Amino acid sequence: MSHVSQSNVRVTIPDLQRRAAAGEKLVMTTAYDAVTARIADAAGVDILLVGDSVGNVCLGFDSTLPVTMAMMNHHLEAVARTNPRAFLMADLPYLSYDLGVEEAIRNAGGFIQRGAQAVKLEGGARREPVIRGLVRAEIPVMAHLGLTPQALHRMGGYKVQGREAKAAVALVEDALRLQDAGCFCVLLEGVPADLAARVTQELEVPTIGIGAGPGCSGQVLVLHDIVGLGADLPPKFVRVYLNAFEQIRAALMEWGEDVRTGRFPGPQESFILPKDAKDTLDRWRSAGSKASEVETPAV
Ligand code: KIV
Repeated sequence: MSHVSQSNVRVTIPDLQRRAAAGEKLVMTTAYDAVTARIADAAGVDILLVGDSVGNVCLGFDSTLPVTMAMMNHHLEAVARTNPRAFLMADLPYLSYDLGVEEAIRNAGGFIQRGAQAVKLEGGARREPVIRGLVRAEIPVMAHLGLTPQALHRMGGYKVQGREAKAAVALVEDALRLQDAGCFCVLLEGVPADLAARVTQELEVPTIGIGAGPGCSGQVLVLHDIVGLGADLPPKFVRVYLNAFEQIRAALMEWGEDVRTGRFPGPQESFILPKDAKDTLDRWRSAGSKASEVETPAV
């Protein structure tokens, strides 16, 4: 039996929380444009994230740090125009929520006005004031803990977090504090599976894992990674289901060959000139290419 929802009604936070509490696994992926949003929505994912990973995946940056609010708004608008059934959320990019609660509310509120139902932001307990401010402004927040890519330089690379006892305890405490601050869900990235399972048991709100083992309430992967359009060497936690890079490359090569050999376009890809226009062109040619000497049919 398929677990894909048949309903066209938009997924909401109460839906997600109810389903997670009932033991249903939540499915989340990224979408950066209308095409990926339509495909993911048609596949029945529960949550669509306009992630700041758009920086690495689509914009050619080598981290998420150069991603700006303007870039995020641009991609969110493209996804929101598809009016997905999935719950739609967007990542607050680097420096968009660290310069004061007011600025964070303005940025996150702009996402909500563009069609997002929630925002995600990275970091532990030190984000409590900003999360409380956002929640007071009716902006639902998903907290992102563990391996937080915007802290690339502090972490010294994309490394699994929470391996040491002290860090593991700090992560559980952070999650509890951010739940208390009003987060509706906690995303755990790059943490040991046992620790993520422990956080999930401690919390009342759902957890979503990426590189965090099977014990979370749901899972997220970057869409491009799932279909083979991500990095050449995907991280250990990714499962690749399709080699779309190779399939698209092969299709383009075949089309290029058809163009070069004259097999494309054929009659089925061409428009036909009506007979009267063809006859007129012939007469124009025999009249020495002078339009004034060729009678054109009245329109
Ligand atoms: O930006 C992103 O895509 C993310 C996911 C990897 C969770 O934050």
